[in-house]
Amino acid sequence: MNEQNTSYLLAFDTANEVIAIGLGMLDADDLAIVEVASVEVEAHRASNTQLLPRIDALLAEHRIGRDQLACIVCGRGPGSFTGVRIAMATAKGIASALEVPLYGISTLDALAWNMQDAGLRGSAVVVADAMRKEVYPVRFELTDAGIERLEADNVVKAEVAAGRLTNAPSASVIAGDALKKYAELFEACGRFADEALWTPTGHGLLLAAQAAWRKGAIDPFDAAFGNPAFALPVYTRLSDAEENERIRLSKNEPKNLRTGVQDAGIRRDQRATAHDSAIANAQADENGIVYRPLDAAHAGAVARLEQELMGSDAWSESLVLDELPRKDRVWWAAFAPSKGGSASESHALSHQLVGYAGGWIVDGQVQILKVATVPEARRRGIARGLLARVASDARDLGAKGCSLEVRASNEGAQALYAALGFEVLGTRPKYYSDREDAVIMEGPLPLNHHDVAGMELMVHESAGACRVEPAAESAFAASAASPSALANGAASAAASAAVGEALASSQPLILAIETSCDETAAAIVDGSGSLVSDVVASQIDFHARFGGVVPEIASRKHIEAICGVTDECLDVAAARLEVPRLRWRDLSAVAVTYAPGLVGALVVGVAFAKGAAWALDVPFIGVNHLEGHIYANKIATPDITPPLVVSLVSGGHTMLVHVKAWGEYETMGSTLDDAVGEAFDKVAKAMGLGYPGGPVISKLAAQGDPAAIDFPRAMLHSGDLRFSLSGLKTAVITYLHNEEAAGRVVNKADVAASFQQAVIDVQVSKAEMALKLTGAKEFCLGGGVAANPALRAAYAALCEKLGVCLTLPPMSACTDNAGMIALVALDRFRAKKFFGLDADAHAHVNIDEPY
Ligand code: KG4
Ligand code: ZN
Repeated sequence: MNEQNTSYLLAFDTANEVIAIGLGMLDADDLAIVEVASVEVEAHRASNTQLLPRIDALLAEHRIGRDQLACIVCGRGPGSFTGVRIAMATAKGIASALEVPLYGISTLDALAWNMQDAGLRGSAVVVADAMRKEVYPVRFELTDAGIERLEADNVVKAEVAAGRLTNAPSASVIAGDALKKYAELFEACGRFADEALWTPTGHGLLLAAQAAWRKGAIDPFDAAFGNPAFALPVYTRLSDAEENERIRLSKNEPKNLRTGVQDAGIRRDQRATAHDSAIANAQADENGIVYRPLDAAHAGAVARLEQELMGSDAWSESLVLDELPRKDRVWWAAFAPSKGGSASESHALSHQLVGYAGGWIVDGQVQILKVATVPEARRRGIARGLLARVASDARDLGAKGCSLEVRASNEGAQALYAALGFEVLGTRPKYYSDREDAVIMEGPLPLNHHDVAGMELMVHESAGACRVEPAAESAFAASAASPSALANGAASAAASAAVGEALASSQPLILAIETSCDETAAAIVDGSGSLVSDVVASQIDFHARFGGVVPEIASRKHIEAICGVTDECLDVAAARLEVPRLRWRDLSAVAVTYAPGLVGALVVGVAFAKGAAWALDVPFIGVNHLEGHIYANKIATPDITPPLVVSLVSGGHTMLVHVKAWGEYETMGSTLDDAVGEAFDKVAKAMGLGYPGGPVISKLAAQGDPAAIDFPRAMLHSGDLRFSLSGLKTAVITYLHNEEAAGRVVNKADVAASFQQAVIDVQVSKAEMALKLTGAKEFCLGGGVAANPALRAAYAALCEKLGVCLTLPPMSACTDNAGMIALVALDRFRAKKFFGLDADAHAHVNIDEPY
């Protein structure tokens, strides 16, 4: 075989404290993966820094080019959530950039294959450490032919797992890193395998991949089948926030009403609490529907609808209540504004339950128990919306597929499921109480495929009025068309020459990625400094019901969305550059926000971007998020020049920065405690206005009297540029409590206006001081709070007074986006300042330090 044409498969796993890498040669005739190398490295919490350098060294050692990689495989866990995401994000970056398939493979299967290959036979158990005294136990049967998995991934207390195994009929051989922690517990359960078999190896991954290939579960040569967007970690647990919420909502306590959604059936005396309901500001979808996990307070409403819709198959309230606390169940509800709600009633009260769905996760499948929508609310995508949410939670709990029963006469529902890829498995005769047959259908998880995460993609105006196709289609089309479509025939050769020319004039083209908080964003800047693409997928919907950004959810959503967002970004850029398609290989560099922010969220972007940059063999550029916010002012005002003073006010930052030159910063002062946006959010939460608080408070404040309540202006006369906002927040909360205790009705508009004014007074006074100290003649803003109209007006008045030029960035440039990261990256590219493959994400990095 000609060496150049030999194709290789690269497999790696970082689910635990070991990095395992396998490199194998693909033999398509025998469906075999011939091992070239298997490397295991201890990497306690260092897999993001070590993974790519190790991969790079391994390929170099074996003189294999990146372009010879035909397929990527990565361990999908279960294991450490961040650990799994590091491998997965790196793999997504590599596979996307190389336009090759990516497949996720169970980390535990790879371990079992190692045991099988070591000659172990019969009953075997893999127990991986799940932290918090829990383990991931899976039983296997090892035979000469291979491994047979006897159960789906699950997580249980170590003691429970050990107890079950002790009672199991046949003695087992046990492996897995949980044995390091719980040796005593598992001693009674069987014989321990050799310690070398306790952690994943490259060898095991290659064996698992080969078995999957032979079973037809993967095809290393089919890029559409192995679309990198759809490889996702297996968690087996919801995030803590979701789990706690589930437990709380499953209890029928009045305090549930605070964050739940209210319907008209709630008692009068509870309505005051209901007023706090998040729905008043909840993000409704385009049809006005609000989705929430089903809570016990609505069990009665569900039972009533059941009576109406299901007749004698209806579930009772107690049956519903019994379902909700169960760990392996997921229930969602849909609410719509009710037409009957009187104008005097709070907004929150005018929402009614219009649909619900529940699923039961058994053996890696979610069985849909119920999907119901009231007739008046049909044809608004509610069943679909509910199913997508049930599926998304079920996926996090380890489900890979979905099954359900539907009435034989319900053709509409069957058509919906068929459209979602479901197939009829058979019928259950006379299943329903009226003796109608049930059709059993099975299919993939009915996720919202728009961008896998179900997030709404937004393309910034700065990227031009390009058409935006739904991401799902474009993601599929992109993969389906690659890699041969463009290479077909002479006509396309001429076309690609023209494309080459068009692209040459735009060089360098730099892709930037931003995942520091709750937006997954990607942008491309061209050599002239204009953004040819700027795409943001906001997760706000997923966090809103928790009253703030939940880090674990943010990380999960980033990994779900990253491929959809980057694919979309390339498509938008292609349209803007007027070329049929922009390929990853057309990029000159890949940049990413590496700090500051939520580490788990940043890690996803950093690993992905590093993987892509490595695959393309182009420079990798790390960008400080705050510097990005400063550069955001250039998006709409490219000729803005330092020296200037920037006020950065967001959910995470409150600071005044002296920009002496691009790349040269001095932080003149920042907050000692809460950030401004955080204060808005906390005050809004205390007032029951939902999340995020900034926009609601500013709207409410417009109707109130800013002088009504004299809230403290902390640090106003401190003589320096430091801020403090926690005292103000506490003062507002105390005020609200005192008024409530005194039985007075709070004028929320006045509270909002007075709070906002206290913030503004300090902001403006410190900005004035910074401008005077620096003598800068330019002032600009950055961060989400810069969208506050009253603050903008106050800054405008200040700048007018001082004769300073004010730049107010457009909203899309204020909030997190990747366009601002791309602009910084272009400067770094020109200065040849690059990061290495060992770069990592950091929660805190000071922008004052020279780059
Ligand atoms: O910059 P950003 O999108 O995210 C980061 O925190 O990095 O800022 C979000 C913050 C939230 O705290 C939100 O409440 C606040 O910006 N915000 C506002 C307004 N719009 C958004 N604060 C005050 N007034 C607004 N109109
Ligand atoms: Zn930000």
